[in-house]
Parts: sequence; C-alpha cells; structure tokens
Amino acid sequence: MSRKMTIEDVDFRGKRVFCRVDFNVPLNDRLEIEDDTRITAALPTIRYILEGGGRLILASHLGRPKAKPEAKYSLAPVAPHLAELLGRPVAMAKDCIGAEVVALTRKMADGEVLLLENVRFHPGEEKNDPEFSRQLAELAEVYVNDAFGTAHRAHASTEGVARLLQPAVAGFLMGKELEYLSGALAAPKRPFVAVLGGAKVSDKISVIENLLTKVDTLIIGGGMAYTFLKAQGVEVGKSLVEADRIELAGRLIAQAKEKGVSLLLPEDHVIAREFKADAEHRTCDNSDFPADWMALDIGPRTIAAYQKALAHAGTVVWNGPMGVFEFDAFAEGTFAVARALAESQATTIIGGGDSVSAVKKSGLEERMTHISTGGGASLELLEGKVLPGVAALTDK
Ligand code: 3PG
Repeated sequence: MSRKMTIEDVDFRGKRVFCRVDFNVPLNDRLEIEDDTRITAALPTIRYILEGGGRLILASHLGRPKAKPEAKYSLAPVAPHLAELLGRPVAMAKDCIGAEVVALTRKMADGEVLLLENVRFHPGEEKNDPEFSRQLAELAEVYVNDAFGTAHRAHASTEGVARLLQPAVAGFLMGKELEYLSGALAAPKRPFVAVLGGAKVSDKISVIENLLTKVDTLIIGGGMAYTFLKAQGVEVGKSLVEADRIELAGRLIAQAKEKGVSLLLPEDHVIAREFKADAEHRTCDNSDFPADWMALDIGPRTIAAYQKALAHAGTVVWNGPMGVFEFDAFAEGTFAVARALAESQATTIIGGGDSVSAVKKSGLEERMTHISTGGGASLELLEGKVLPGVAALTDK
C-alpha cells in the first residue's frame, strides 16, 4: 500500500472526482438504512475531497441486483442520509452513466456532491466491461477508491475505471484498512494470535494455511472446530462436521505442529439437543460427548484457556464467532472472546461480518483497535491475496 498514491498526493481543486465507496448498507422493508457504519467510515475521505475543492461524484453498489434496475437496491435512500451527515446537499442521479449523468457532472461546482445510482444496475459492472468502464471514466478526471469492502472484486467501478482515470488513488478508509490488516500480517507485534470461528472449515482453508505461516497461536472455535476435533478422533455427536474436510483438518493440525504454532481447539462445549434458541442445553467435555447432542458454543474451560492465550498477545486478528451467538444461550463464548480482546493491550483487529456484528452486540466496539468494514475483502487479505481494487491504483 505504501507504494500506491493516496488522496493526500492529489490537488482536487476544480476537479471532477470519481470516488468509489462501499455504501452497500443494510436496508429494512421500508427502505430505511439499518446500519450506516459504511457511510460514516467514508466520511473522512468525502470531507477531505470537498474541503480540497473537488467536485465529488460518488459511486457504489448496493446488494446483488440482477444487472438491471430494482427499486429495493436503489441508492436513493443514502443521498438524504449522507446530506444530513455532511451538512450539505447531495444530489441523486437517476443512473450512473449516460448523457444525462454526464450533463449533471459538467454543471457541478467545487464542493458539490453527486451520488450515482447503483453501478450493478448495469451488466458491465460485474463483467468489468471496458465500454462500461469508459462510460464511468467519462464522468470525471481523477479516481479515488475508498471501497475497501469491495476491493476484492475486479469490477468496472473498482478496477476498470482505475486503469482509465489517472491518477487513481486510495482514500483514507482504504489506507486504514490495509494498514491494519496487511500491517498485522507483515509486521505483527508478538505474540501474534489469530482467532478463527464460523461454521465451515471449507470457507477458511486458505486463511488458515496463510496464518499458519505468520502466527504464534491459532485459536479455533465455532462450527469449524468440530471437523478438527473429529480429525483428532474426538467424538462430537451431532455437531457440524464436514466429512470431506476431516483429512485436511488433520493435515492442518500437523502443519501447525511442524511450524511450532500453538493450535487451540475446544476442550469443552455447550451442547444442545437441537439447533434452536430455546433448546435444552448443558456442558460436556471432549471425553464425554453424548452421541445425539450437538455443540453450539465453546464451554467454560475452553473460554478460560482462550482468554489466557489472548491476555498477553501483542496482535490479535479475529474472524468468525465461537458459537451460535444469535441465540442468547450460546453467545457466551463469542462475547467472552470480545471481552478478552477489549481488556487486552494488544492491537485488536476484527475482520468479517459475523464477528463485527458480535462485537457490536457486545457493546465493546470502542475498545477494539480496528473493526473492518470488509467481510470478503478482509478474508482475502488474510489469505495473503492481492486485492484487484488496490492493485489497479497508481503507483507512487
Ligand atoms: C460486502 O458487503 O462484502 C461488499 O459490499 C461486497 O459485496 P458483494 O459480496 O455483493 O460483492
């Protein structure tokens, strides 16, 4: 990232600026914004461009429309919300390309804001179609990418336009996300501990393989832990197990050993008779797992062991919950990890949708060093991949 130009390298005065943001925010049935974190996270970049005298053209996707306009995926609800946050008007365009939109951009004065309609209403966006990129590029003179959450997609507005509009530079949010996530992997304060959870091993294989070359301790919880336990010959009843990944889990355990990484797996569990919020539940150990019960959270001894490993960490990266935290009876493991991170002196980095929701639900958001706005994008960084939206930016 330090090799890429940033918005601090550009004089925006009098320039039309195409700024790709990730305003892919959750809307409710009344099309009201349910969580504006991604909008507020882009404000420093937006304000910087406006205060620098730029004419700001904002582009984003919202949801996954089928390459045509759909009212429920319109970005229109974002315009008044952003206007309120900025304390200045935000004009809403009916489309993101075409003669009418070009005309709107040509009428803009310094410090004005225009929000384009959802770029995914056109098939050219996800295909990274050169003609669609050209039509987007026609709107502006400079390109800024602050859409970290979408930087793993090689789409027209994240990659194609960046190749056409020069300079193409990173915004503040993009810079901050890369600084924490890539920074943690490149030069972590040690001990470096990763906490991985979530349902499936298959979603996290590349992350685990990459992290095994970087971390001192790897903590595993959530549904994916049971495939690992099965690989060690532990009986796990009706818990989630990916039968076709047991062998792989065994190989990852062996790799951890070879590399001297301390791999922590659950020793005890909160088990239930069925997958339900109010299911009958109790705790059990690895040695006495009943055949017709399933684990829905880590147990108290496991929590204590994980907290101990986290207490003296220098850097912690956390992705994925420890249990079914959406159900109160099975949320303690996930919240206990959140508390351990909040209390530790470590640089704490939360990446991924579910762990971010868990941290928000625990009320400990303010006590984390960095909470990523990217789910898929942060996972790809943890896998060691280069994000196409970053690769396309202009080198310094
Ligand atoms: C996200 O929510 O992770 C980003 O906005 C990317 O959305 P996508 O997965 O639909 O590409």
